[in-house]
Parts: sequence; C-alpha cells; structure tokens
Amino acid sequence: MAKLKFIIVSIIFSVHSCFAQNPLYFLKQCQRDDPNINVCLKQSANFLVANMRRGIPELGITEPEPIIIDEIGIALGSGPDGYRASFRNIHAYGVSNITVTGVRSDVDSNQFQFTLYIPKISARANYESSGVLMLVQASGGGEYWGEYEGIKCKVYIRASPHRIGQRAFLTLQQIKMDFSVKNIRMGVENVHNGNSVIQAALNLFINSNAQELLKEMKPDLKKKLIVLMRNFVENLFANIPYDAWIS
Ligand SMILES: *[C@@H]1O[C@H](CO)[C@@H](O)[C@H](O)[C@H]1NC(C)=O
Repeated sequence: MAKLKFIIVSIIFSVHSCFAQNPLYFLKQCQRDDPNINVCLKQSANFLVANMRRGIPELGITEPEPIIIDEIGIALGSGPDGYRASFRNIHAYGVSNITVTGVRSDVDSNQFQFTLYIPKISARANYESSGVLMLVQASGGGEYWGEYEGIKCKVYIRASPHRIGQRAFLTLQQIKMDFSVKNIRMGVENVHNGNSVIQAALNLFINSNAQELLKEMKPDLKKKLIVLMRNFVENLFANIPYDAWIS
C-alpha cells in the first residue's frame, strides 16, 4: 500500500516537473525537414486544442466556451420595406469541440492552411428587425436561436519571421477563412411587439431559407470570425517562439 502510494506520488511529481521544465507543454514540436510535416502540424494543432479545452493560463486561455460576438447584421431586399435584422450579444457554444482534419503547408514561405471540423454549434442572440418578410410586417425584436451541424472551415495563414533577442517569432501577415454548414435549424422566440402569428411566420420563413440566410449573414460573420482568429493567432505567435513549433 505504502509502495503504491509512493509510486503514485512519484508519477504525479515527475509529470508535474515535466510540465514545469517545459513551459510550452501545450504544443508538440515539428521538424521542418520531416517529409510528413503536415501530419505533425495537424497533431500539434489538435494537441493544442485538447489543452485549450482544459485551459492554458500561460496564454490567457481559461474558459474556451462560449465564443461571444457583439453583433452581426443581414439585409434582404432593398428599399424602405427591405428586411433588415441585427443579431446582438451572440453566444456560441461548441467551437472547442473543433478537430483539425488536415494541414497543408509551405514552411519555407510560412504559409499554412488548416481544415477544421466542428460537429455542432449552438447559438443564442437577441435580434431586432425591421421591414417586411413574406408580406408580413416583421419589425420587432426577440430572441434568436440556431443549431448548426457539420461545420467545415478552412483557414489560411501567411506569416513572416522576426527576431527578438536570440529567438525567432512569427508575425501574422495575412489570414483568410471560409466555412460551410451542413444542417441548420434556427428560429426566433419571445418576439416582442409581435404576436404568435408573426412569430410562426418568421420561424417558417427562417427554417425554409436557412442556407440563404446564412449566405446573407456570411460576410458580416466572416469579418467577426477573422478578427477573433487573428487575435487568437497573434496571441500564439507572440507567446510561442517559432522554433518551439517548427525547428
Ligand atoms: C462537445 O462534444 C461532446 C461530445 O459530443 C458534447 O457532449 C459536448 O456538449 C460538446 N461541447 C459543447 C460545448 O458543445
């Protein structure tokens, strides 16, 4: 019994000191001359994600859920009766279940493309709308909910190295992203300045045009997501020397 206790304590201590010795314990290092570097970069990214789920205080990442977006807007049709809606205080849950499914890279020119998969995101937001939808005066507001399944995302990054003292760090030069969603269910509830007829009409419209609505939301949504990703990547690059990632 005492021996078992000793073994457990030694394991805990050696794991702990291993972390203490490696301040970049949340990252797996890849070799630039590895012929399968893309496989390594994929594993490294998934290892980082797994650590993020637990929180990485060293990077200021404590609570990965939810993702919060202040506002996005859509406009359907033009003119005074064109339908406009803005969604505020968007809370999205599920992004931390992300998997990196593929990486393409050109390490010499510091270009990387990540293919990502998220099984499901649930979002809630407040919305305000004005204008006419399907002949219904749809001005008002309420709560929006959305369930998005099978999200595929591609993120392209171009960086350039610079030196700080003895070590090289990366600076983000360019970031681009695009995504698709396989299944969407969404609707509105607690519609104020409205009635149950308007709420039912809105929900019918929203669900029969979900992909179209997503297409309308996409430009705004992409802008917001790129800002979030840019901040995320810049934080990584500022804290992780280049050779700790790729040596
Ligand atoms: C992540 O996936 C697991 C397993 O499918 C699920 O139980 C959990 O709710 C998901 N997390 C979020 C925040 O959606």
